[in-house]
Amino acid sequence: QTYSPFDFIIFGATGDLTTRKLLPALFYRYLDKQIPAETRIIGAARSPLTDEDFRGRARDGLNQFIQEADRNPEKIEEFLTKIHYVSLDGADPNGKWSSIEDLLNSKQANPVRIFYFATAPRLYGDICDNLSNKKLLTKDTRVVLEKPIGTSLETAQEINNRVGKHLPENHIFRIDHYLGKETVQNILALRFANPVFERLWSSDSIDFIEITAAETVGVGKRGGYYDGAGALRDMVQNHLLQVLCMVAMDPPISLSEDDLRNEKLKVLRSLKPMTEDMIKTDTVRGQYTTNEQNGEHIPGYLEELNKDSSNTETFVAIKAQINTSRWSGVPFYLRTGKRMAEKTSEIVIQFKKSAWSLFPTAPEPNRLHIRIQPDEGVSLSMQVKDPSKSHTSLRSTFIDIDFSPAFHIRYPDSYEGLLMDAVKGDPLLFIRRDEVDAAWKWIEPILDGWARGVVPLSQYKAGSWGPQEANELLAKEGHIWHEDMP
Ligand code: BG6
Repeated sequence: QTYSPFDFIIFGATGDLTTRKLLPALFYRYLDKQIPAETRIIGAARSPLTDEDFRGRARDGLNQFIQEADRNPEKIEEFLTKIHYVSLDGADPNGKWSSIEDLLNSKQANPVRIFYFATAPRLYGDICDNLSNKKLLTKDTRVVLEKPIGTSLETAQEINNRVGKHLPENHIFRIDHYLGKETVQNILALRFANPVFERLWSSDSIDFIEITAAETVGVGKRGGYYDGAGALRDMVQNHLLQVLCMVAMDPPISLSEDDLRNEKLKVLRSLKPMTEDMIKTDTVRGQYTTNEQNGEHIPGYLEELNKDSSNTETFVAIKAQINTSRWSGVPFYLRTGKRMAEKTSEIVIQFKKSAWSLFPTAPEPNRLHIRIQPDEGVSLSMQVKDPSKSHTSLRSTFIDIDFSPAFHIRYPDSYEGLLMDAVKGDPLLFIRRDEVDAAWKWIEPILDGWARGVVPLSQYKAGSWGPQEANELLAKEGHIWHEDMP
């Protein structure tokens, strides 16, 4: 794929996301020759930095966040020449807008312009007003909005209204980097290019589904944002619900952006609304506490935050239900947490046990395990005859594909493809406005219930799989989390 030169402007350029994700992603696409010579990457933030200062920070970030084998100093220096910096508060109408106006208007041709908003979402409206007043929103402009869009349905609608005043929906790219993950996109191929699975993809054959996004890191330096957000807003409202949509949706009639997003929307709108009783029985919230592991001190949430108390959840487990003929009766267990035992994002599809068995011991149910990250791959558990025992004995084993070694490729970071999709103007893997609304509509009663104290905040030790209540959530239905499965 070849691209015409473009201007990529990042508001919030001195933040963590720019250093850890955006610049490394653009660098990899530069190595792949997708960033043409005339392209400019312009960082904008309040700090009074020069181009050279900002390039220095970018150099340090690249050397830290790209893989060691790709740290070619010559290529990094070439890439850095594309980077510029303007000291500007994008939310301030009286800021130094002339710096960015001069830069952007200095080009003869009108290249594609991407404004990437990596700031606090409450500033998106102000930034858009200012870009519009300064006449910087050309017909080839697209804005990329980081999640979470708002902190509630109302605030999300307010942001979307304000941004939507200046740009049509197909120029607004709401990014959810989970949709940029190869293995999340692979769910479409797995389901719709393998009839053997799709024919079994319903409550007729599936017992329950688990979707986990577990992290070993704590909140680190993001405590300021995180303590006001919590895991439900940070991970479930967006990433986990998007993965759920990919797993649960009906086949779209085509791979066009609207057909795919219509199907995802149907799933979000079919989520069974959470009543107060359901919130009590079907949701778990937790916060990690200090632990010692292998002689190492792992700080608790409050210690990392340097606070005496906080009611913010760093762990969530929810039993979600989808009110459709395909999924009625199948629990979807969603779980995410910081400082858990392993870094892993995965989907486990547990098929039903057969009611009848030819063998003396009933066979274990089949299980399809989709590893989103790390070690991207898929495995299917099966029963075979145990070769060391009599002909009536069974043993569980797996068919397992590890994608990276199987295809001899580097698995790109999720931002890489998405950033280039925004440059191309392809919104397929971005979130449409009605999806944001539908996701908030389902999440909001849980937030409200939790705010009323309906579910106490449980504690879990840093480095564990979360609070005991999360195991009980599944045990009530005779189910277990995959790490405890035989
Ligand atoms: C971000 C959240 O959206 O996703 C972070 O704000 C979280 O809190 C991150 O750490 C997880 O992403 P990944 O790709 O590492 O699973």
